[in-house]
Amino acid sequence: MLMFRTSLFLLLFYCGTQTLGINIQTIPDVNGDGIIEVELQKTVTLVCGLNGDTPSDEELVWLRNGAVVDLKDGNKKGRSSVCINPVIYEDNGATFACHLHANTSDKASVSLNVTYHPQLSGSEEVTVEIDSPLVLQCDMRANPPVSSMTWSLNGSIVVLLEGGFAVTNDGFKSQLQVNKVDKLLHEATYQCTSDSPKYGQHSKTFYVTVTEKTIKFPLMPMIAGLVVVGLTAILAVASRWKKITKCCK
Ligand SMILES: *[C@@H]1O[C@H](CO)[C@@H](O)[C@H](O)[C@H]1NC(C)=O
Ligand SMILES: *[C@@H]1O[C@H](CO)[C@@H](O)[C@H](O)[C@H]1NC(C)=O
Ligand SMILES: *[C@@H]1O[C@H](CO)[C@@H](O)[C@H](O)[C@H]1NC(C)=O
Repeated sequence: MLMFRTSLFLLLFYCGTQTLGINIQTIPDVNGDGIIEVELQKTVTLVCGLNGDTPSDEELVWLRNGAVVDLKDGNKKGRSSVCINPVIYEDNGATFACHLHANTSDKASVSLNVTYHPQLSGSEEVTVEIDSPLVLQCDMRANPPVSSMTWSLNGSIVVLLEGGFAVTNDGFKSQLQVNKVDKLLHEATYQCTSDSPKYGQHSKTFYVTVTEKTIKFPLMPMIAGLVVVGLTAILAVASRWKKITKCCK
């Protein structure tokens, strides 16, 4: 059934590109749905051309999501190529269309499916004071989406209730949070691990050290206080200038 549908589609596609003059050739290959699957940071090459019987000096136009792509002069007549290098996140879902400058009704198009895994690797040292909040953050953007994101503490899955932990995932990042850090409960090695159907596991490690509280001076009130003291001193000196100068003599 699936094969039948695919071949029917290909047949239609073939007929379509034959009767209309415009066609697009791609590296990597386009699938039956007009989608090119490509990994982030890789390169896509699109070549738009006219089928044999059409005059080959006709000018071509490329559109990315409906907006005209700026082409060099030698890259317009009869055959025109567009290179996307490197492919970025924003190219996911982008549609590239090509048509004759003189006739917009004869148009071919392809879309990009940019695949990528969460950017997780290496390790980070984190220092946090007792009683302060702790927030560890991991990227979880992925296409296809991750099937799971897990946090571990010293090698075992984090038990949320036990350590007062909270985990939030918003589709872009996963955060492990503690409101008030305790040395015994929270000083440890943490790891976030994403699992993807296409890319497998990726993880990042955090070495968390809990330190004693340092006494923090409230800086702003202190500055305000110093200014007041300073002004008062100046006023006092000014009003007593005579007396002081007298003393000094
Ligand atoms: C534009 O192309 C279509 C499809 O090839 C064709 O039917 C139509 O006549 C063309 N129009 C012009 C103005 O050339
Ligand atoms: C893009 O490619 C991924 C991986 O093959 C697939 O799971 C996903 O369904 C594709 N998305 C689209 C819109 O084709
Ligand atoms: C994690 O392991 C380190 C080193 O073995 C240990 O010092 C620390 O107390 C452990 N943390 C927790 C919360 O069990």
